[in-house]
Parts: sequence; structure tokens; C-alpha cells
Amino acid sequence: MIDEQHVSKSDETEILKMFTIEPGMNLSSPEIQRAAIQTLEGGGLIYLPKGGFELSERERELISNTANILTQVPDVENGKPTIIFDPKNGHIKKYHYAQIHGKMVRAQIKDSARSDLEAIMARYGQWTESVITQLFPSYRQSLDRKRVTYRPFARNSTQALHIDSSYGYPTQGRSMLRVFTNINPADRLRIWQLGEPFEPFVQRFLPGVHVKGPSWFSKLLAQLGIVDGVKTKYDQYIAALRALGMRDKEYQNTAPRKLMEFPAGSSWIALTDLVLHGAISGQHSLDQTFYLPVEAMNDPARSPLRILERLTGEALT
Ligand SMILES: [Fe+2]
Repeated sequence: MIDEQHVSKSDETEILKMFTIEPGMNLSSPEIQRAAIQTLEGGGLIYLPKGGFELSERERELISNTANILTQVPDVENGKPTIIFDPKNGHIKKYHYAQIHGKMVRAQIKDSARSDLEAIMARYGQWTESVITQLFPSYRQSLDRKRVTYRPFARNSTQALHIDSSYGYPTQGRSMLRVFTNINPADRLRIWQLGEPFEPFVQRFLPGVHVKGPSWFSKLLAQLGIVDGVKTKYDQYIAALRALGMRDKEYQNTAPRKLMEFPAGSSWIALTDLVLHGAISGQHSLDQTFYLPVEAMNDPARSPLRILERLTGEALT
């Protein structure tokens, strides 16, 4: 029997529930699984100080100088552009752009480094799948494993507190379950801020949101395969709430928050459309995104979809 005190640390301020899984704990034990699902679905963060994903010495060496892997390094340190890997075809997306100072920029990977980076990202995706399968066996049948993101660029500017929305990849009501790992080869911390629970955040910004439902144009883009599915009202609400929250300077300056430092080698797991978060600093992280249907959750009423439906009084998918 595991002492719950020992495995479950809840923060005094109650801003964020956190569950720490120390090295050597068995991810498949019922006590750990129960605490993990309670934490995740309750909008908390699961923290693995030494999750177990590691780079080889050669891989650390490779990424320790970004000039080894990229043809150019942008002068703005906001952690962009990112590198996106699609586990379905085993390759890095060639044309993934980020907007930096109004210009569209993408990470241009050196041909000599491409297969090494793809191998790291593929291995990471498989590792996260094994962790998630052990911790959440009841999700196994329903999870859809999506993209892996690698952030080789430094961030030295605070990202506003936000919930994740999925841009060109509508979740259509599914939650975004993401596993993150700090792989910094120089042992630099990755620092995040984490905000208040989802519901008070939504209540604050919901009056400013006006959503019309999917347009004929977005249906057309989806039919032509230009975007990955039609944006539902849920996707529109999440995108609008995210944008309103990020733009609100007073909220960003005064909202409750907790800082978290993630050392190199650590991993963390959250539903990122349920947990307010923003990166503050760090360089070299990996993350894997899964889509989780609400029906697969232990308690669907805690999902962002069902909370939003309750607060708006309408069906959103
Ligand atoms: Fe985010």
C-alpha cells in the first residue's frame, strides 16, 4: 500500500493540484493510476522529476549547438519557430511556420541532422505512449496520438497565461493531453507559470465571446483536406477564450499563478486546454500531444467541453 501523502503533493495555495511520481515508482500500480487520473482530469499537473526519457551522448552533443542542426537562428528569443514531427508518417513537417515580428519564419533543418532529429522525436513519441498507457490504461483505446514538437530555440520572454487551442487541427471537443520533457543538454531549467482553474477563467471571459458555429468556408477547407476537420463551436470557444485572456493585460498582471521549475530530464503531463499555463524560459524541450475524447474520461463532466457546455447552456460539438 502506498502512502498517499508520499505520492500526492497538493499545493497550499490550491492554485494547482500537483502529483509527483518519484523515480522507481510503478506507473501501473492502481494507487498511482488512481492519483494520476484524479490529478489530470481535475486540471492538475503530473510531475515526473526523472521520467526516464534520455538522449544518448551523441544526441546531446548534436543539439548542444543549434548550428549543428539548423541553418539559422532567429534573433528573437521567444522559443519559436518549433519543429513538428508527424508520428503517422515518421517525418518532420517541412513547412511549419511561426510568426516572429510580423515575418513568417520556419526552422530550417540541416540535411545532415534530419534523420537524427526524426529518430529522437519518434523515440520520444513511443516513450510517451508507454508512459500514458501505464498511467491511464482506460484511455488506451480512445487516445489519438498526434504531433511531437521540439523547441530548439531559447525562450527568454514570458508567454501569457493561456489554454491551448489547436489552430489548424480542430479537436472537435476532445481534450489535449500533452506530455512535456526538458531535454536541455546543458542542464538548464525550463520555467513555466501555471494559473487558476479553468472554470473561473472561463466565467471571467465568457461574456466577451461571440461564436457563430462553423462557417461554409471552414467546412470547405475541411472537405478539401486543407485543414484537419471542421472547427466545431467548441474549437471556436476555446480559441476565443484563449485570445481574450492573452490580450487582457490586467488579467495577465494580476491573475493568481504559481511558478514551476522543470529541471533537465524531468517530464510533466497535463490537459493543456484545461490548465492555464505559459512558458517563461528554457531551451530544448519535447512534447507529444494526444487527443482524448471526453467519453473516455473517468469523469467527463470535468472536461473543458462539458464545463463549457454547462456554462453556455448549449451543445458545442
Ligand atoms: Fe500552451
